[in-house]
Order: sequence, then C-alpha cells, then structure tokens
Amino acid sequence: MLIDPFFTGNGTAVVGPDKVDCDIVCVTHGHGDHLGDAVQIARRTGAVVASILEMSNYLERTGVKALGFNLGGTVRIRNTSITMVPAFHSSSIGAPGLEFSAAMPVGMVIDSGKTVYHAGDTCVFGDMKLIGEMYKPEVALLPIGGFFTMDPKQAAMAVKLLKPKVAIPMHYNTWPPIAQDPNEFARLVQKSSKTKVVILKPGECMEV
Ligand code: NI
Repeated sequence: MLIDPFFTGNGTAVVGPDKVDCDIVCVTHGHGDHLGDAVQIARRTGAVVASILEMSNYLERTGVKALGFNLGGTVRIRNTSITMVPAFHSSSIGAPGLEFSAAMPVGMVIDSGKTVYHAGDTCVFGDMKLIGEMYKPEVALLPIGGFFTMDPKQAAMAVKLLKPKVAIPMHYNTWPPIAQDPNEFARLVQKSSKTKVVILKPGECMEV
C-alpha cells in the first residue's frame, strides 16, 4: 500500500514513481503533495485508489480503479480494511486559479492484522481520543510540520489522545515553511506519554 504517493517534485524522495509497486493507493486529500503521483502509479500497477467519494469520481475519469467511500465507512481490499476518519484541513485538485474542491480531507485507519492510523493533513482535534479508543492503533503517522498541519506540540497532544504504541512523525522538512526538528516531537512525547517515537529518514523502513 502507498499512502499519499508524492515523489515527482519532492526533493526528499529517494525513489521515483516508476520504481514503486503496490496493490492499493490511499489518498487522504487532493493537494498536490498528497494526490501526487497516484494516478500515474495506479495506471501502471493496476492498484486500487481509495479516497473520499467525490475525489474518487474524479479519479475514475482518469482511468484508474477508483474506490470511493466516506467518513465512518470501511472498505476491504484483499486482506486489508481501511476506515475513513476525519481530518481538519482543506482539499482541492488542480492548478492555481483552476482549483476545484475535492470534498473533505480525511485520515485513514488501516488494519491488515496490525492497525495503523494515518492522520493525513490535520490539526489536532479531540476526537483523536475516539479514534484511539475504537481502533487502538499500534502505529500513528502524524504530521509535525506546522504551517499547514499540526506542529510538534500539537502532535504530542495527538499522541496523548491516541495512545499508539509507536508514533512516526511525517509531513516536515519538505519545504522551508514546514522545517521542523523531529527530535523535538520525540522529546515532547517522551515527557507526556509512554508511546515510542520512531523517526524515519526517506527510504527507511520499520516493520510492525
Ligand atoms: Ni494538504
């Protein structure tokens, strides 16, 4: 599975969109650094693209296998279930001046034996506690870049609400406005919860 596959134009990417393989692409919202190379990858691999209904209707017209669902819904692809949960952000597709709304931005709870919560782009919100209680994620992928999303302080609060075993910071250091020190996030989490923070460099792996 790929989530928000942004390779082209991403100075931190260590592979190109023609070098990745997957069965499923999840897209949390329409912004270029999230929808990214999803269409190109899905066309080449035949992967199913899972996203919110209105964006899915658009993606279907690009010739990919699009699976559109909505908040609270769960879809099952192969042995993986994906539940759509809220995120507080914006969502659009297109070029500057030609943008159109791509419905709501979302987060996703992915369960293929182990549960992973991908927050998408969002601020911190109280119902992360509900996501934590209902799905008990082993891993939470949380934006820490600030400016467009949560910063380290808000993301540390998100960890307190979600109580995952592991938190992985994301969505930082791609561009100057979202420059952050992930160690600052790790320090804040260590002070306020038992969750372990794993900082991954582009291309690095963690086995769940
Ligand atoms: Ni965004």
